[in-house]
Amino acid sequence: MAKRILSGMRPTGRLHIGHYVGALENWVSMQKEYENYHLVADYHVLTTNPDSSKIYENTIDMVIDWIAAGIDPQKSPVFRQSQIKEHTELFLLFSMLITTARLERNPTLKDQVRDLNIESLMFGYLGYPVLQAADILLYKGNVVPVGEDQVPHVEITREIARRFNQQYGEVFPEPEPKLTKFARLVGLDGDAKMSKSLGNTILLSDTKDEIQQKLRKAVTDPQKMRKGDPGRPEVCLVFSYHKKFNPEEVPEIETNCRSGALGCVDCKQKCTMSINKYLEPIREKRLYYESRKDEVLAIIIDGESRARATAQETMRQVREVMKLG
Ligand code: TRP
Repeated sequence: MAKRILSGMRPTGRLHIGHYVGALENWVSMQKEYENYHLVADYHVLTTNPDSSKIYENTIDMVIDWIAAGIDPQKSPVFRQSQIKEHTELFLLFSMLITTARLERNPTLKDQVRDLNIESLMFGYLGYPVLQAADILLYKGNVVPVGEDQVPHVEITREIARRFNQQYGEVFPEPEPKLTKFARLVGLDGDAKMSKSLGNTILLSDTKDEIQQKLRKAVTDPQKMRKGDPGRPEVCLVFSYHKKFNPEEVPEIETNCRSGALGCVDCKQKCTMSINKYLEPIREKRLYYESRKDEVLAIIIDGESRARATAQETMRQVREVMKLG
């Protein structure tokens, strides 16, 4: 049997090139080799954003980006967590198999506590990785393509799977995280992370002009004031984008930046062209779906019926070994 992949993202709206490089591109290449399930984490998103009024819209926008980037929903079902009740059921059962002490050690929870404060931390956030374990194990995912930050959640998933299998009988695989080859993209403002909330992103849907405008404002090496000044590519975020989107020209750009022969304006222009080349086919495809959102919903609903069948079969096995009912 083909190995199974479970990949998921929270629906926060249109995706940016950081999502693409850090996750989506990986999903697309892996769908050839594996049986893939693509989950819209529309419960998880409530842990940080209880305003649910935009979830539907954001889901459609995100799924358009997935399909435009090359996810084939015929081959790999795309579905919403909230539409398959088995997620909540398995989440509840799993919550009996992990201690609160273990969940309190979860590093993403610690980050959250740092960002908020303990008083405003929701119970749901403590259970976040338990719900994620249910997402993965309901489909018996063997491989989970994630960024570095999600590895602790996959580790918790493995512990829960092990615990369940010991306690009740072998039902679940122990999934492996699969890290993306490329480290995540730096934001346009130089922040270590490109993220919607920081407003430092290039969207998959951005036009060439929008990319150009955004790059124009991007910070480069502060010591390079004008063309002719020697630059330090290693501190320049535009150079880091070249590495990803324009690898062939990297040696030349590096030499000419250091010598001063290449100015930031021209370098940014080159960068605009190469990012645009990457995004052009995606943008074209997303335009088609942009005006056919009903079709996108139909694709999701179809994915949900297939995902549900798998989830129900897993829950049948779970109930059987647990002697529930
Ligand atoms: N927590 C993941 C993130 O924020 C999203 C997610 C939810 C997920 N369920 C998942 C990722 C299952 C992989 C597998 O990126």
